[in-house]
Amino acid sequence: MKLLITGGAGYIGSVVAAQLVEAGHHVVVLDDLSTGHADAVPAGARFVHASLADAGDTLAEGGFDGVLHFAARSLVGESVERPDLYWAGNLGGTLMLLDAMRVHDVPRIVFSSTAATYGEPERTPIEETDPTRPTNPYGASKLAVDTALSAFSEMYGLAAVSLRYFNVAGAHTGEDGRVYRERHTVETHLIPRVLAVALGEGDSVSVFGDDYPTPDGTCIRDYIHVGDLARAHLLALAACAGNRHTIYNLGNGTGFSVHEVISVCREVTGHPIPAVTRPRRAGDPAVLVASSARIQRDLGWKPERPGLHDIVSDAWRALR
Ligand code: UFG
Repeated sequence: MKLLITGGAGYIGSVVAAQLVEAGHHVVVLDDLSTGHADAVPAGARFVHASLADAGDTLAEGGFDGVLHFAARSLVGESVERPDLYWAGNLGGTLMLLDAMRVHDVPRIVFSSTAATYGEPERTPIEETDPTRPTNPYGASKLAVDTALSAFSEMYGLAAVSLRYFNVAGAHTGEDGRVYRERHTVETHLIPRVLAVALGEGDSVSVFGDDYPTPDGTCIRDYIHVGDLARAHLLALAACAGNRHTIYNLGNGTGFSVHEVISVCREVTGHPIPAVTRPRRAGDPAVLVASSARIQRDLGWKPERPGLHDIVSDAWRALR
């Protein structure tokens, strides 16, 4: 297929782009490099340095079979402080992209949605049919896109799949030996922050709250390997047909607390990694764990590296 990957110079988008190139697809990456890196675009993909507003110029070439849409802002805290950026970028930008897809007859889209669409869950593991009550503009903007996709699918025959990511981590090695890893300028994610301390950047890691209603008092999350997450996109693309919008959760179904993650990082790195308890971070739900039963059943997705030790080991190896 001829595919446009928006945000393909970012962490997750670049891994998916690499796997699509390896699978023999014709890949065009569109990225404005606001958070991505041009050197993350895999060899074999064409790179267009442009924003979502200009995606139509590329789609106008014709012949595109689908879009995989990663380009977005994704920091929960920033979204609370600057909701304008999140509504304009994540919803406004996507509506421009969808419009360009209609104009240029692109029949399918795989969209990066998020666990943040659910907000504070009533139960875990979370299923796709559970209520969506986002607690921040990031989750709300992604949920708005999911809602738009359902309507576009019904009215305009767009085939759409939304993948709701839980906590993505680890690094991926391509068939050519190239390593793809998380390289955020502002790093807020737990695993890279803990590994940075092991590398000597900072004296200790902050634990944001130890008074949650969980066994050790710290937040529990469902960590998924970026390589496993990426493979789900290839399955979603193959299944994306007709005027249907399907939503799938992507996680491993097992939760780990912040303390458990730090402990696995100590094992993997052999570094003591001091931890200091700090106040809770605004908007953090106590427990987020996915049921991925739907994508396993419908698309046969099966994680190859579901263990937290493997996820952390791959992230650590990529840093050294
Ligand atoms: N945490 C710390 N110390 C840190 C960093 C994080 O204690 O230095 C804690 C957080 O408070 C949270 C857990 O570690 O309890 C995981 O935090 P991350 O920032 O790694 O991930 P989040 O669960 O906050 O966010 C992820 C994605 C978001 C998505 C969200 C869904 O990064 O894009 O899951 O809820 F919205």
